[in-house]
Amino acid sequence: MTREPRAVVLKRVRKRFRDVTAVADVDLEVHPGELMVLVGPSGCGKSTLLRLIAGLDEPDAGEVWIGDRCVDEVAPGGRDVAMVFQSYALYPHMTVAENLGFGLRVRGAGPAATEARVNEVAGVLGLRGLLSRRPGQLSGGQQQRVALGRAMVRDPGVFLFDEPLSNLDAALRLETRDEIAALHRRLGTTMIFVTHDQVEALSLGQRVAVMDQGRVHQVGTPHEVYRRPANLFVAGFVGSPPMNRLRLVRDREGRLAGGPFVFPGGSPHREATLGVRPEDLTLAVVAPPDPDPNPEFTATALRVESLGSEQRIRLDGPGEAAWVARAPSALHVTAGDRVAVSVAWERTHLFGADGGRIGAAPRPVRGSRP
Ligand SMILES: Nc1ncnc2c1ncn2[C@@H]1O[C@H](COP(=O)(O)OP(=O)(O)OP(=O)(O)O)[C@@H](O)[C@H]1O
Ligand SMILES: [Mg+2]
Repeated sequence: MTREPRAVVLKRVRKRFRDVTAVADVDLEVHPGELMVLVGPSGCGKSTLLRLIAGLDEPDAGEVWIGDRCVDEVAPGGRDVAMVFQSYALYPHMTVAENLGFGLRVRGAGPAATEARVNEVAGVLGLRGLLSRRPGQLSGGQQQRVALGRAMVRDPGVFLFDEPLSNLDAALRLETRDEIAALHRRLGTTMIFVTHDQVEALSLGQRVAVMDQGRVHQVGTPHEVYRRPANLFVAGFVGSPPMNRLRLVRDREGRLAGGPFVFPGGSPHREATLGVRPEDLTLAVVAPPDPDPNPEFTATALRVESLGSEQRIRLDGPGEAAWVARAPSALHVTAGDRVAVSVAWERTHLFGADGGRIGAAPRPVRGSRP
């Protein structure tokens, strides 16, 4: 049913709207048949990037390649891409079959060929039983599937999705996300999927491109982006609750230090930021008569939030700002308890003054003994 999947390559693509740089010199390579997710906060340039690929906007500089050709001079209709938008405007007076077939009919396909193709796509999407209904008689999820089908009938080399799930409720969102992943496995077509939801990005993308302020900060597998964030922006954007941070400054002996931590000496960095994910902290409640179980630091639990399967515990340190830990629900801890905290140092992160990743933090030379 599908043809050879196509690569999408952006070469130093830039787009400005008056004083706003929506896309700033972006290089991006989407492999043939890959499901790539573009993720970033509102206004970071995701839709603009997608529109540049689709040909709905023109870049000020750079090149867009689809398959083996530069498409800068190619109109949207000739680019072999189909775009699915957040607000999928189906034609309300047409049936599902007519909505699905419309794009083929306006391109001059005959009624028999159109019907055959519509049936094929409706079969793939589980829409066969709904073909004679009108959009008003469909659920939100079914309407979204028709919008998807409308993009599919043309059998494009590349699918572009611009937040297609954001109008759906939470349960339907999950279900439709799974459907898109399954569809991708079945069709093997190149797909670029835009979302501002980092959980959605990590769960759906084979690779994820994290954007902020018109720039792509990191491209990698969900595991890479989570485990080895390229800079402080990615570290803070990916993961929930966000990574804990502590500012470190080099002392007179050339050692980075902050809060209760002093790291081994000889750092070339004048200052740095330590990042620790909430799940990389292990807590033990310190009962007053018991000895300190040799923690990296001790803190007071300010707030304990039970989520059923786990707890989120807000701590009054180790530095000025509060940290959050994730702990198993079996840990008995209440607000006001003193807790001994150990850190999985091999999974920590160190960022330089410019925000770029340096590596994992070494084990500190001593912990605090408040
Ligand atoms: N047609 C336009 N005219 C002027 N500015 C625009 C235009 N389109 C986008 N922008 C600006 O460019 C920047 C990027 O917008 P874009 O729509 O690409 O962001 P986005 O990442 O898709 O955001 P969202 O998650 O809210 O959809 C924003 O600052 C936006 O205000
Ligand atoms: Mg957008």
